[in-house]
Amino acid sequence: MQIPRLHPDTIEEIKLRADIVDVVSEYVVLRKRGKDFVGLCPFHDEKTPSFTVSQSKQMYFCFGCQAGGNAIKFLMDLGKHSFTEVVLDLARRYQVPVQTLEPEQKQELQRQLSLREQLYEVLASAAQFYQHALRQSQGQNAIQYLRANRQLKEETIQQFGLGYAPAGWETLYRYLVLDKHYPVQVVEKAGLIKPRKEGGSYYDVFRDRLMIPIRDVQGRVIGFGGRTLTNDDTCYNSGNPRNTVSQQPKYLNSPETELFSKGKTLFALDQAKTGISQLDQAVVVEGYFDAIALHAVGINNAVASLGTALSLEQVRQVLRYTDSKQLVLNFDADKAGTNAAERAIGEIADLAYKGEVQLKILNLPNGKDADEYLRERTPEDYQELLANAPLWLNWQIDQIIKDRDLKQATDFQQVTQQIVKLLKNIANSDTRNYYVSHCAEILSLGDSRLIPLRVENLLTQIAPAAATYSQPLPASKQWGSTRNSQSPPTSLRLPSEQARSLLELAEALLLQIYLHCPEQRQTIIEALGQRDLEFSLSHHRLLWRQILELTGEQLDLISSLQNQYLELSEEIGLISHLFHLNENSKKEILRTPQVIQAAIACIERVFREKRYRYFLELWQQTDPQAEPERWQSYYQAFYTEKLRLQELDRQRLFSITDLL
Ligand code: UTP
Ligand code: MN
Repeated sequence: MQIPRLHPDTIEEIKLRADIVDVVSEYVVLRKRGKDFVGLCPFHDEKTPSFTVSQSKQMYFCFGCQAGGNAIKFLMDLGKHSFTEVVLDLARRYQVPVQTLEPEQKQELQRQLSLREQLYEVLASAAQFYQHALRQSQGQNAIQYLRANRQLKEETIQQFGLGYAPAGWETLYRYLVLDKHYPVQVVEKAGLIKPRKEGGSYYDVFRDRLMIPIRDVQGRVIGFGGRTLTNDDTCYNSGNPRNTVSQQPKYLNSPETELFSKGKTLFALDQAKTGISQLDQAVVVEGYFDAIALHAVGINNAVASLGTALSLEQVRQVLRYTDSKQLVLNFDADKAGTNAAERAIGEIADLAYKGEVQLKILNLPNGKDADEYLRERTPEDYQELLANAPLWLNWQIDQIIKDRDLKQATDFQQVTQQIVKLLKNIANSDTRNYYVSHCAEILSLGDSRLIPLRVENLLTQIAPAAATYSQPLPASKQWGSTRNSQSPPTSLRLPSEQARSLLELAEALLLQIYLHCPEQRQTIIEALGQRDLEFSLSHHRLLWRQILELTGEQLDLISSLQNQYLELSEEIGLISHLFHLNENSKKEILRTPQVIQAAIACIERVFREKRYRYFLELWQQTDPQAEPERWQSYYQAFYTEKLRLQELDRQRLFSITDLL
């Protein structure tokens, strides 16, 4: 398809609707800090968060790698998508009608958008069909199963929209395609029917199963889980495919579709999101019925992972609703042995080591799952276990020492090794130190005189890794660090690279002051004008031109500039850091009068030096005998420049080495 040109109204509407915090938090775990949100930057590898999101400005910025922009820019960079792709995607998500500049393209777009709309409709219709069938005579076994085996109240059955897929091969097909006239391709794309190998007809994917609708956060049905109703022991679990007595998996899930992706979805999140924010904690269980059972007894902050290892995306989804990022994993520990939680944690171990999530592990007694546990015990019992669940690291340490005899040399050595491996990964040094002493205590076997020795021992073993956590200086601090690395100039000429970086920093600081300190704008314009100075770096010159064009209009200069830069993706990388202030630059800017002087002196110096060299060369090439006047005037010119340079260097020594 030809790339549509979007109507500016559509782009504006999307900018209004797509909240930056909403968009970013799908990919980054954000934590509130003051007015803003912070998290680990998705654009570079970091261990401490320098990525900030401002809801009021609708902008993000990373102080580590200088990535910055608005919601559209974020999605463009993250997924390497084009501007149009991102806008269209957001349009779908926020249900903004899309207008294009050319009418023919509108149809094609509408067609694409409406496929998703149709899928939602078909799935909702199927869910109704299954719910209805549950109440018919054909659904008698199923509803009986829910009431008797699962002990579910009518209210819970309704709340989760549970249903029954009849036993025939094409009951749903007939209902959706023949009665309701949904296009057969759409029903197939919804993952509900499959084409037969021969004859060109279709059959239902779910037959004679208890149906559990899976919904997105907004509560729209996006897929189904279907549980067999035949005896548990005769059906195989997908985790154990050798036991294939009835050739039927216990649960059959919707295939991956345009709307549904198993690894990205959390069951019951639509029901749990309010509970999660109220309790400021999320519980993740493994099974559909574990989540349902918890909600049924009023523990309404539970979601289920659909039996897979937790993906980063799933965790981020759930963490959006808890401010203090508390997550309890209630996974079956016994089933797959000691590594179960490790595997269940999947991709989030990294987040846990960095302290991005306060992860706790709950293993219920006797290897029971939540649903089984609640059929014997009270919700209060469960809640007590929840409250006392160990932190993930403590749980891991417990797993390491479980069934070991630390008095045995080999056990002791192996345990120490595993503990060292664990401790090495902890990013935060306070947390690491805490666990070092905790483990030293364990390894001292009650003899407190041994603790210092054990601490010492663990620290030496984890030391090499600990050193790698030291951060490279963020670029914004380099401005300040020039003081240390650069001794006062001994000759008139600075090495050109150093001169350039100094110039770059000076120009950047001046622009930053201009942008962030409106009261200094006049001073800067005058200072530059008086000395007839220009910005030397082309991206700064471009920004300065845009600033001058916008200045005077009554608008927020920074966000207007950011909007202008949106479509200039190359340039924005070079200047976007100027739109934001970190602690360091804030301090510098507080001393603006001196800083402006110093920065301007820097800029002027580069300019003067060029002139100095230019006149010097002319003077050297001129024959004093043949052209004495010219020779004299070049001499004057380069000597004036030289004096000015010396003066500037004095100023620079005076102010810059003081300031920078
Ligand atoms: P479990 O096998 O732990 O079973 O599956 P469960 O949830 O306790 O099942 P019940 O209580 O016997 O009904 C946990 C989850 O793994 C997924 C399902 O999401 C299930 O809820 N699963 C399991 C499948 O997708 N397919 C299977 O065949 C089995
Ligand atoms: Mn179960």
